[in-house]
Amino acid sequence: MNTTMEATQNEQNGQVNSPDPNPSPVPQHQSLSKNAQKKLLKQQKYEAKKAEKKAQMKEQKQRDAERKRKEWEEKLAALPEDERLKLIDSRKELRRERMEKRSEERGQKIQRLTQAKETGQNIVVDLEFSHLMTHSEIHSLVQQIMYCYAVNGRCSSPAHLWLTGCEGEMETQLQRLPGFDKWIIEKEKQSYIKAFSDRKDDLVYLTADSETVLHELDPTKVYIVGGLVDRNRWKGITMKKAEEQGIHTAKLPIGAYMKMSSSQVLTVNQVIEILLKFLETKDWKDSFFQVIPQRKRTEGDSENCQEVDGEDCEEETEKKKRCLEVPSHD
Ligand SMILES: C[S@@+](CC[C@H](N)C(=O)[O-])C[C@H]1O[C@@H](n2cnc3c(N)ncnc32)[C@H](O)[C@@H]1O
Repeated sequence: MNTTMEATQNEQNGQVNSPDPNPSPVPQHQSLSKNAQKKLLKQQKYEAKKAEKKAQMKEQKQRDAERKRKEWEEKLAALPEDERLKLIDSRKELRRERMEKRSEERGQKIQRLTQAKETGQNIVVDLEFSHLMTHSEIHSLVQQIMYCYAVNGRCSSPAHLWLTGCEGEMETQLQRLPGFDKWIIEKEKQSYIKAFSDRKDDLVYLTADSETVLHELDPTKVYIVGGLVDRNRWKGITMKKAEEQGIHTAKLPIGAYMKMSSSQVLTVNQVIEILLKFLETKDWKDSFFQVIPQRKRTEGDSENCQEVDGEDCEEETEKKKRCLEVPSHD
């Protein structure tokens, strides 16, 4: 699976994990500690700055497009009539070929995703935590889900993705994504516990707080990832939930393959991308090294760069933008 992948987007290009430019304050009822409030405020300021940068980049993009259009017109104007027509025709032909290629790829992707509904590994994103997140955190989660969907669509054997507990603000924000209604993914208002009520023993909640290490992915199991962007403010919340529900838990075997500079708590998109890579390669080490950012690893373990608990570093944001560059909504 390639990280420069096709994807879901148009207007969303460049919006991956981009924040709400007017982040909402911490919900009152959360009664966060002073420290947590400080942290959150810092995050909100960071996000506002990021939004400003994004707006500047958008303007730059528009200026570039305008410049290119002018250059093209000038080029045409300088040519004699017959050459001008030839040039216009060849450009049209190029566009036609590109569109044909895209439409072919889209068809293949639809086939793969449809097949995954029958035979793919079930992976659930548990969306029952929106009351614990700010608007910008929900926005960030929506962007992560969009990214996961795009990555899955590029896999040769995609997973069968589920969004459970998909209602309220989460659903509203997801529905704002262009093409979301056409996504080949299970959108379920019910919680996973209801949706899989006849398969409770197959449910495995993935959580960094589990004592059990995940060694293999069992195709008969349903792996659940907590849909939460919280910078681990809600420490242990998914473990507690799974214990209360009496379902299995497991953590990724990160410790066996790399040293982390801080906690082993990854973001939703990192976890799902690792699972997808593992499904293809059956190689945890390779999957971790391809997905976990260098800044989350201790020195000596090198490779790419990614995000810490919902916050992208620039290189990772760029990677995701590239991934989301080709509009494809299915
Ligand atoms: C940003 S984390 C949320 C952290 C949250 N405080 C919690 O208690 O789960 C998003 C989700 O990714 C999954 N996850 C993150 N790191 C993991 C790890 N090392 N092993 C297994 N699952 C992990 C969990 O499902 C987690 O809920």
